[in-house]
Amino acid sequence: MATNQSPVTNPPTQLFLRAALGETTERPPVWLMRQAGRILPQYRALRLRFPDFKAFVKTPEAAAEATLQPVDELGVDAAIVFSDILVVPEAMGLNYEMIEAKGPRFPKTIESQHDVEALRSGAEAAESLEYVYEALRVSKRALADRVPLIGFAGAPWTILAYMVEGSGSKTFSKARRLLYTEPVLAHTLLQKITDTTIAYLRQQVVAGADLLQLFDSWAGELPAAHYRAFAVPYLRQICEAMPEVPKTVFAKGAWFALEDLVGLPCQVIGLDWNIDPAFAKQKIGGGKVLQGNLDPCALYADTQTIEKETVAMLRAFGGNHIANLGHGVYPDTPLDGVRAFVGAVKNFQY
Ligand code: CP3
Repeated sequence: MATNQSPVTNPPTQLFLRAALGETTERPPVWLMRQAGRILPQYRALRLRFPDFKAFVKTPEAAAEATLQPVDELGVDAAIVFSDILVVPEAMGLNYEMIEAKGPRFPKTIESQHDVEALRSGAEAAESLEYVYEALRVSKRALADRVPLIGFAGAPWTILAYMVEGSGSKTFSKARRLLYTEPVLAHTLLQKITDTTIAYLRQQVVAGADLLQLFDSWAGELPAAHYRAFAVPYLRQICEAMPEVPKTVFAKGAWFALEDLVGLPCQVIGLDWNIDPAFAKQKIGGGKVLQGNLDPCALYADTQTIEKETVAMLRAFGGNHIANLGHGVYPDTPLDGVRAFVGAVKNFQY
């Protein structure tokens, strides 16, 4: 009897989750990486109230408002909690600054064994991220099961890269050098990041995340052998530790590692726009759902071109697919371009 059942908070009946679990769907679900952001006038208005990015992220009601904006405005099939991958290094004791129009910067970076030893990790570090869990709870309540809620974290290699470089980089030579000069130290740091990420993602699921995405934004900087040695084993640990929800691994630029990613216990593999869908299908086979991968720059084109490019991409994947861009939407993308993309997916039928 329905009345005797405990309420089902995460019914897998929603398009996005059904597709992520490998079900055949009538059309692919669609969302955009970085959909909660400057493309939306409502987000820009909210930012005026929170000029300090970190204060914004740490205010759960505001973060939840940003999480829901793209669902309300664009009709996307999933929400992603508004936060940043850099909250994890901060929780471990490495403070970051977000510099307007430039990006993140760590005043202090990781240089020595002493620095690594001084970092908090695991549940102790993840405890300080209560504001993210609260943003998830508030978002989940406000969504009222309209669409599923995605939780996320940076992949360990990408987080190490920020902690060692102190910012984005043209070459990532400090982070890459560490893998040759101090491999043991690199592994110690990667393990600490992994332990923290597992504790963090576990709490995200408790707080209401329906699916977890790992962002390995700097995967493409590594040689294949290093990706296999320093990235894949930690992705595996994280995926194995989170059996209760589907997981997406988005390793940007890692066309060379697709076969390694196939072996991970995740359901979805995110693809950047450099990868031809036919190539990905051939390397990955039928056991995974693929997510992506329109060039974000396509959304600067006229509506007809966007529709044509989107439909061509959907046909190339041909099923077992979640429509997205090949990386985050650029903040100055015209909203009409984003709408044309979402509309083209929603009008599509297999
Ligand atoms: O909509 C969403 O995707 C959810 C929110 C989200 C943000 N950052 C908010 C944000 C997510 C999933 C991220 C992940 C993130 N953050 C990544 C991985 C994805 C990727 O792009 O490869 C990385 C590398 C970061 C680090 C980061 N945060 C950078 C480099 C920057 C500055 C430059 C930029 O891309 O805007 C940020 C700031 C940031 N994080 C903004 C947002 C909306 C911009 C702040 C603003 O303009 O208001």
